[in-house]
Formats: sequence, C-alpha cells, structure tokens
Amino acid sequence: MSELWDRLILAPSVATADGDGYGLIENGAIGIHNGLISFVGAQSALPGQPQLLAREVEELADGLLTPALIDAHTHLVFAGRRADEFERRLAGESYAQIAASGGGIRASVAATRQASAEELLRISLPRARALAADGVATLEIKSGYGLDLETETKQLRCARQIGKITGQRVCTTFLGAHAVPAEFKGRPDDYLEMLRTQVLPTLAEQGLVDAIDAYCEHLAFSTEQLRPLFQAAVNLGIPVKLHADQLSDCGGAALAAEFSGLSADHIEYTGASGIEAMANAGTVAMILPGAYVVLGETTRPPIAALRKAGVDMAVATDLNPGSSPLLSVRAAMHLACAVFGMTPTESFLGTTKNAARALGLQEQTGSLCVGMSADLAWWALDHPVELSYWLGGPPAKAVWCRGIRLKLS
Ligand code: NIG
Ligand code: FE
Repeated sequence: MSELWDRLILAPSVATADGDGYGLIENGAIGIHNGLISFVGAQSALPGQPQLLAREVEELADGLLTPALIDAHTHLVFAGRRADEFERRLAGESYAQIAASGGGIRASVAATRQASAEELLRISLPRARALAADGVATLEIKSGYGLDLETETKQLRCARQIGKITGQRVCTTFLGAHAVPAEFKGRPDDYLEMLRTQVLPTLAEQGLVDAIDAYCEHLAFSTEQLRPLFQAAVNLGIPVKLHADQLSDCGGAALAAEFSGLSADHIEYTGASGIEAMANAGTVAMILPGAYVVLGETTRPPIAALRKAGVDMAVATDLNPGSSPLLSVRAAMHLACAVFGMTPTESFLGTTKNAARALGLQEQTGSLCVGMSADLAWWALDHPVELSYWLGGPPAKAVWCRGIRLKLS
C-alpha cells in the first residue's frame, strides 16, 4: 500500500446503509483518509495488520457504527417563542385559526426580523448541537422566517455559520415563499414576483441557496403561483423541494416532480397521480411525523402506496417553532414507525441514504462506501433497529463529519 490511512476504526458492529437494508457487518472496519472513507468491510478482509495500515487505530470496545444521521428538513434558525400556540391548540384552536389571527409563521417572522444576527446565532446554535448529540452530521436549514431580503439573508448566513462552528454539513434552503408578509397583504403575486426577480437571484449570487422550497397549501401558495418561482430557480441551477399536500391534496407532490424535485415533504394527502409522478421523477418522499403528531392530524401519509410505487422515503424532524418543536431525528424515526407504519429499516435508510438523496448528496454521505465522506456515528446500541426503538435513548457516543470528530456538548 502506497500511503497509510489517517485512521482506522474497528467496531463490533457496523451498519453501512449501503443497499436496501441495514448493511450489517460484524467485527467491521472503517478506514479514513483525507476525510473520506478508504476502506469498509470486515476486519478479516483488511489488506494487512491494522497498525501497518493507518497512522491511528481506534478500537471501539462496544457498540455500533452507522453513517452519521441526516436531518434533511429543518427550520431551526428562528427567534421568538410560540409555546403559547401549543396551549391554544390544546384548548381547541386550529393551526389555521392561529395563523389567521396573526400568530403562526408571521409571529416567528416578526421576532426573527427583530433579532440581531448575533442573537439569532446564539439562540439557534444549541438546536444544531442538540441534533449533533442525536447523531446528526448533516442537516438542512430553511429560511422563511424573514420574508424580506435582509432577514432571509440573515437567516441563511446564520445557517452557514452554524456549520462552520459545529463542523456539521449544513445545506441551506431558501423558503421565501413560506407566507405573505404583512407589507404585501392581499398581494401574494407581487410578493412572489419580488422573490423571483430580486430576492432569489441576490441570495443565489452570494452562494446562500443550495435548494429552494415553498409552502404549497390552501393557507399559503398554489401550484400555479409557485411555478414561475420554481422555473427561475431551476434556470439558476438550484434544485427544488416542496412542502406539499400536508393539509389537503393540492397537487403539490406532482409540482415537485414536474421540476424533478429533490423531495416532496409531508405529503399526507398526496393521491395516486402525485405518487406516480414522484416515482417517475425520482423525487424523495420526505416523511415528517413531528408535525402530524403536534398538530393532532388524522390523515397519515400514504406509506404503503409509496413503498409499492418504489418511491424512496426520508424521515426528518421538520424542527420548527410552530408545527414541530422536535429536537431529535431519532424521535422522528420512532414516530415514523409507530405512527405511520414505516419499518425500522425504512426509517434507518430514511435518515441516512434516502435523506442524502433528498439533499442531492447521495454521492457524498448517507452510507458507508469507499470514496464517500467519513461521516459516522457511534452508538451504545447493539443493532440499528434500536435507533428507531428508543424514544430518548442514549445519545451518540461520537459523531464524525468529513473524518473530524464533532464536539458534542
Ligand atoms: O410545518 N412550511 C410550512 N411550515 C412549517 C411550519 C411553520 C411554522 O408554523 O412556523 C412546517 O414545515
Ligand atoms: Fe417544514
């Protein structure tokens, strides 16, 4: 061998997420070089004595190594508090009623506009750290609590800074089309036109937009309204994802598929034609049980039909202050199984391999294969089914992103 690897990790159990199942390897070994995986397999298949292969050999006495988890749908950069809305919903008000009375997204917009960049970072950072402790090395962060150029910029810069500080890989998503801000009240099309012609190109120019998202729902924007914005994004080379069909079937999943979208998210109400469109386009189904549980919804996403159609399913927290104050991707995995009927294998692939696909990162992360980023999580667990089984189980013992161990507080 020409060059020693930087590191070789030996573990009693490895789950690679490479393939259709867990990809279990007993007495496994992971070689790491220049932040990439240089070997994955059984220790018995190593091409020599461990000490002769790598500069550092780390033998984990117990536990399980998996790909670091991926939370591919979060809104974790926001200011303000909305726990009162939780109490109001418990007392009988609906999410839509609270939004109509000036609460909901607009309440977070007011608080986020007011917060300084430093303040926004200070209050958002612990949320990313909580996900890191839960095994997450890659996360998506959406804007959408600014709804003007200045605040959307502030949110997306904050997201980038979080990645620099924690060492996690952060994918930024521009969600300007989240709600109509007060200054555009009654003029949603003017607002969308401003996003299309001014805000999106300016943010894209600064490298702040890895993907675009929008809220497609009767209480937000229609597919017809969103099409020009998505077309502009695709013209700029920016991939599309969509908050679709959560409260009604409004053709959202089909719109995401029409633009070869990375994912259609929520999709509780998506019907047969939307599922077929997703299957044909390779659009990932982003399953978000947190919002379903927190909002007390009763219509579940069509898991069996998605499975039958061969649509890949991802699972995420949807971490946000209104519909999903969920700080654990493993809790989302549990709920995806217990409430939606996904299998633990599907939920595991949903926060690893398929979550990477939902971010367009499948060549880089989400499974353990030679040449991919060394993004790993080490768990005090015996088997990957336990990632979905526990609600509040032991935090990750260690998490690596690009071969570098994250500081877990
Ligand atoms: O459920 N895209 C829509 N909304 C968020 C919730 C936003 C909020 O209530 O603050 C979601 O993904
Ligand atoms: Fe969301």
